[in-house]
Amino acid sequence: MSNKILQKKALIPGQTSLLVIDAPQIAKKAKPGNFVILRIHDKGERVPLTIADTDPEAGTITIVYLVVGKSSALLETLKEGDTILDVCGPLGKPTHIEKCGTVICVGGGTGIAAMHHIAKGHHRAGNHVVAIVGARSKDLLLFCDELGGFCPELLIATDDGSTGHKGFVTEVLRDRLEKDKNVTEVVAIGPVPMMEAVAKVTKPFGVRTVVSLNSIMVDGVGMCGACRCNVGGETRFACVDGPEFDGHKVDFNELRMRLAQYKNQENESMDLFRS
Ligand code: FES
Repeated sequence: MSNKILQKKALIPGQTSLLVIDAPQIAKKAKPGNFVILRIHDKGERVPLTIADTDPEAGTITIVYLVVGKSSALLETLKEGDTILDVCGPLGKPTHIEKCGTVICVGGGTGIAAMHHIAKGHHRAGNHVVAIVGARSKDLLLFCDELGGFCPELLIATDDGSTGHKGFVTEVLRDRLEKDKNVTEVVAIGPVPMMEAVAKVTKPFGVRTVVSLNSIMVDGVGMCGACRCNVGGETRFACVDGPEFDGHKVDFNELRMRLAQYKNQENESMDLFRS
């Protein structure tokens, strides 16, 4: 288990990077929807990251991260050839994928990377995959070439209109759902407000909607309770029961509150790291 970084690419310089990691055991078993937890050093925080792609033959996994706090800033200091102390996975339940017709995959921000793996899984299962991706502007879009390579429809929304529809992914989604009553499923991965808005749009259409929750995680195997969330009035653990859940049943308010719980400590830790 080397966990060596074989490739590092700045997708959005200083903000979002991609790593291809040598992890043959994980690459062999991982399925779309799975995630890994990595630690950069022995006192380091455990960082959950959804797998963006795998190459079982080459024995590699691809992860994409946003430099948002101390641990991701530390990860960003690593270079090609460096080794990550430990990479644990594949964790979580894989996405339920079967041949079911038309599936719309919606991705926002770094969520597009994780969505890409799921979209690929649906494509391989023989589904007609419509990818809808959104970002503030053209330069902040990820994985468009990859998605365009296998999705018969790639629809783009940008806040500033620099490419695609000027506005939100939800507007594109509503329009697409109105045109086609045969969509079987919608998958949404991205910022919480985006996933919540997607679930609101799909509800009146009665389309099954899956969201992937980016809960705070510690152990990743169902023991610590850090990732608990409320789905349909029941407490579920994102790491073992998810991370994907029925978007129409998730309590997004509670998720938002739990994600903001350690903001002060996260900011303090980042300030210390920078100083
Ligand atoms: Fe500990 Fe899920 S991360 S129970």
